Amino acid sequence: MRRLKEFVAPLVYLSSNITSLIGVVLVTTATVLWLFLLPSFIKGEPGNAYTGILEFMLLPGVFFAGLVLIPLGIHFYRVGHRNELPPVFPDIDLQNERFRRLLMFVGVTTILNLIIGAQFSYRAVSYMESATFCGQTCHTVMKPEYTAYQNSPHARVACVSCHIGPGANWFVKSKLSGTWQVISVTFNLYQRPIPTPVKALRPARETCEVCHWPQKFAGNRVHIIDKFTDDEQTRHLKTVLMLKIGGGGGYEGIHGAHMGPGVEVTYGHSDEKRQTIPWVQYSRNGDKTIFKAEGFKDADMGKLEMRTMDCIDCHTRPAHSYKLPERAVDEALARGLMDASLPFVRKTALSIIKVDYATTADSEREIPKRFMAYYQQAYPALWQSKRPAIESTAKAVMAAFAENVFPEMRVKWGVYPNNLGHTDYPGCFRCHDERAGDKGNKTIPMDCDTCHKKLAEDEESPKILSELGLTPATGGTK
Ligand code: HEC
Ligand code: HEC
Ligand code: HEC
Ligand code: HEC
Ligand code: HEC
Repeated sequence: MRRLKEFVAPLVYLSSNITSLIGVVLVTTATVLWLFLLPSFIKGEPGNAYTGILEFMLLPGVFFAGLVLIPLGIHFYRVGHRNELPPVFPDIDLQNERFRRLLMFVGVTTILNLIIGAQFSYRAVSYMESATFCGQTCHTVMKPEYTAYQNSPHARVACVSCHIGPGANWFVKSKLSGTWQVISVTFNLYQRPIPTPVKALRPARETCEVCHWPQKFAGNRVHIIDKFTDDEQTRHLKTVLMLKIGGGGGYEGIHGAHMGPGVEVTYGHSDEKRQTIPWVQYSRNGDKTIFKAEGFKDADMGKLEMRTMDCIDCHTRPAHSYKLPERAVDEALARGLMDASLPFVRKTALSIIKVDYATTADSEREIPKRFMAYYQQAYPALWQSKRPAIESTAKAVMAAFAENVFPEMRVKWGVYPNNLGHTDYPGCFRCHDERAGDKGNKTIPMDCDTCHKKLAEDEESPKILSELGLTPATGGTK
């Protein structure tokens, strides 16, 4: 105790200079604010890049800057007051004026920080974790994802639920990578469009299964797909599929086949976007079958990147579902946002939204103008009688574009593949192409009844819907 005092007494005496005291204030501030953020850190609450910057860069930076200032101040004080130093340093007790001053500095700073911390950090942290913040703060960068997210079934699910998920480990990982993302946004180093797939995304089963546990989705699901024709008077066609959702902890259907107990599907892809899959291994409780695409040579194995299949290999776009132009227009027509009675409405809308506009401002100026101009010129009488319908349809045409195309981020029609299906993108057919396995006569089946039963295709009034009591059928389930 005595020796400790002998060591600390000169420090207390010498650090009573302005430089060291600033150091003390910085160290105290960083420590107190860091402690404020600690609970969310320990609980492993998801956070994002900005709290990451605060916790892992800014506060430690301040802390160490303070730590450097204290001895620096002591050093200069010593040099400056070489001849005035007392032979014996005063004891550390409340009689010691310099000690009192130091205590006061630490005390006042701490109290101020407690007040500031209580006021700001908690609110700042919870704000920073909200979807609004994630989506809007780097507005041009995240605008495509945020817009698509707001139109998705997950519009009320926080970004961090999928991008970070529970647990301290991923929290730290995502903070570090998030910190890098913020730096790259600040210095304009990011790619446009933001490349997909997200390499550092957490294995989806750990995030998605927090809400969708595999026992929950099972059985079949009827899916009605609306389409419209390009005729002068567009016709509403419906395709009715019964999808074999499956799962439920067994090997049934789509989910059971790939995600059932003890099942692991591993694949090798030759392109960045995982769209070309020449090699697949199916393993159920250790029983393995390898399927190779026609013409694939084992010598090319080294060129493939391997991956274990999880939810996002099919559900690539659960929250950021960009549509192709035809789907966007069909959906707006089905929902009544576009007036289906206007002549050539689908064809006109498509020809206008498929144009490559250089900026969002250009598109906002041109799209409604061109759409209305078409009716003004080709159907002047109709323009007179149905002007409000044409104007509101023009707005919906604009929305169909604005929800899916973001010129500034070079997000054009179809840059982000949706793997759920096989008509818009290769999707299921990346593997399901009847390729043979190395055992027995197994293939990855392409038979049309494997995944769905087609109850109707492109019919105006499918019998199945009237049987189900769904006439006149409107709208899809998508
Ligand atoms: C339901 C889960 C989920 C939610 C909620 C979610 N995302 Fe995503 N996000 C994904 C998946 C899955 C991908 C695609 C991963 C892939 O293809 O590798 C992705 C991709 C991205 C990408 C990369 C570009 C792209 O489109 O592939 C960005 C940026 C992104 N999300 C930002 C956000 C933001 C911002 C929010 C909140 C406004 C958010 N995400 C909410 C699941 C989600
Ligand atoms: C925080 C909870 C939560 C997480 C995490 C989550 N979801 Fe969901 N998801 C929901 C809710 C709630 C709905 C239902 C929305 C509705 O019925 O409109 C939903 C709906 C869905 C649907 C059905 C959409 C449709 O068209 O009806 C799919 C598919 C889906 N989620 C996949 C995923 C995938 C894949 C992930 C992981 C990348 C994921 N979800 C992560 C809450 C979540
Ligand atoms: C082999 C591809 C594939 C994989 C892997 C996959 N799904 Fe699906 N999932 C589908 C298809 C196809 C549908 C039906 C889509 C539709 O109705 O449009 C579907 C539907 C769903 C639905 C809606 C079910 C309903 O009854 O409405 C949920 C929720 C879902 N999947 C979650 C998940 C989760 C979570 C995972 C990962 C554990 C996962 N899926 C893995 C292909 C897949
Ligand atoms: C990475 C490759 C891959 C992709 C992508 C893929 N599958 Fe599969 N799928 C397989 C393999 C491998 C099997 C097992 C084949 C076997 O051994 O019978 C399988 C089996 C199935 C089965 C069970 C078949 C049966 O005979 O019982 C269904 C249903 C299925 N897949 C649906 C889908 C759907 C729907 C999609 C797209 C959303 C999809 N799969 C995408 C690899 C894939
Ligand atoms: C490996 C599984 C699988 C196989 C095999 C398969 N399909 Fe599909 N099919 C799907 C999925 C998944 C969807 C998307 C359903 C959705 O959008 O909800 C789909 C969608 C469709 C659609 C609706 C397209 C649209 O416009 O949205 C049609 C039509 C269709 N399939 C026909 C076929 C035919 C014909 C075959 C046989 C050559 C076939 N399918 C084989 C999984 C499969």
